[in-house]
Amino acid sequence: MRMEPIKTIEWIADQPKRLVPGMIRLVDQTRLPGELILMETRDLRQVWTAIKTLQVRGAPAIGIAAALGVVVAVQDSRAATGAALATEVEQAADYLATSRPTAVNLFWALDRMRLRARADSRRAPADLKARLIEEALAILKEDLAMCRAIGRHGAGLLKDGQTVLTHCNAGGLATSQFGTALAPIYMAQEQGKHIRVYADETRPLLQGARLTAWELMRAGIDVTLICDNMAAQVMKAGRIDLVMVGADRIAANGDSANKIGTYGVAVLAHAHRIPFYVLAPSSTFDLKLTTGDAIPIEERGAEEITCGFGKRTAPEHVKVYAPAFDVTSARLITAIICERGILKPPFGKAIKKAVDRRL
Ligand code: MRU
Repeated sequence: MRMEPIKTIEWIADQPKRLVPGMIRLVDQTRLPGELILMETRDLRQVWTAIKTLQVRGAPAIGIAAALGVVVAVQDSRAATGAALATEVEQAADYLATSRPTAVNLFWALDRMRLRARADSRRAPADLKARLIEEALAILKEDLAMCRAIGRHGAGLLKDGQTVLTHCNAGGLATSQFGTALAPIYMAQEQGKHIRVYADETRPLLQGARLTAWELMRAGIDVTLICDNMAAQVMKAGRIDLVMVGADRIAANGDSANKIGTYGVAVLAHAHRIPFYVLAPSSTFDLKLTTGDAIPIEERGAEEITCGFGKRTAPEHVKVYAPAFDVTSARLITAIICERGILKPPFGKAIKKAVDRRL
């Protein structure tokens, strides 16, 4: 049975006729797949923690949460002037920017909030608060439109009966709703195509097992879960037609950071001559970085590997290295799909054009 798509993150205004004050409502992704719990907050520190601990995760969803986080930070401010309120916006944005380093969508969304505050700092504080929530909700609405457009472009690559391998979760849970790498699969389903998906479980935090498998099953899509180390064999056995993954940051040359393990999947796809697609909104492009070497890679706590989900699976005090992301070289990517269309290599010019013509 197919169920209604989940709203990953929403703004709930206190009163019907005014957007502020209000609160953020988000799906607590640390509780899935066991429980579907909606967390509500109007507290800046709680928003920071929700991002840090992956209660909200996935590059676009982190950006939306951060933008709304700026709003909750200042909505009860007693600042006497718009300029004073704009300073509080900067402080909240600086703080939220320390939550996670890799997904550029976080910094992109915070920069939009800063720019809005600076541009409207001459307004009365109440007016500026209204502008800030409008900006945050515009980010959310645009994300939905971008994901749908990515879905439309990507669905054109999927033929009825094909099988896609994906890594991590770049679905509705990672965005406002529809997803990026999973968007073409949802769109193909709407078009009446039968598409199968293999989902890598995605060690160590199991976003593939806990989230991708959950949301695809909920949508009535044929999904098979595999451990990450099974992908090579599954490809060799001819079970995969194409790979679709999301991205957390894409450098100007097309090098793409995504969840740790993605690079390995790309190498495998190359070895088996399987097309490898990266799907992301243009807010994921970072033209300031010429190559992926400069992308900051988050390192996570050792306990996520040694004691994941409360079960000790390695000796205490063992040395651990825990990068949360890796970078897939542009040469391994068949195409990058964003809301502007399908970008083919060499990616440099195409990415620049897509950014210049953002939705
Ligand atoms: O650590 P996470 O779960 O936030 O990592 C998420 C990913 O790597 C996703 O693939 C990426 O953000 C793309 S989401 C559309």
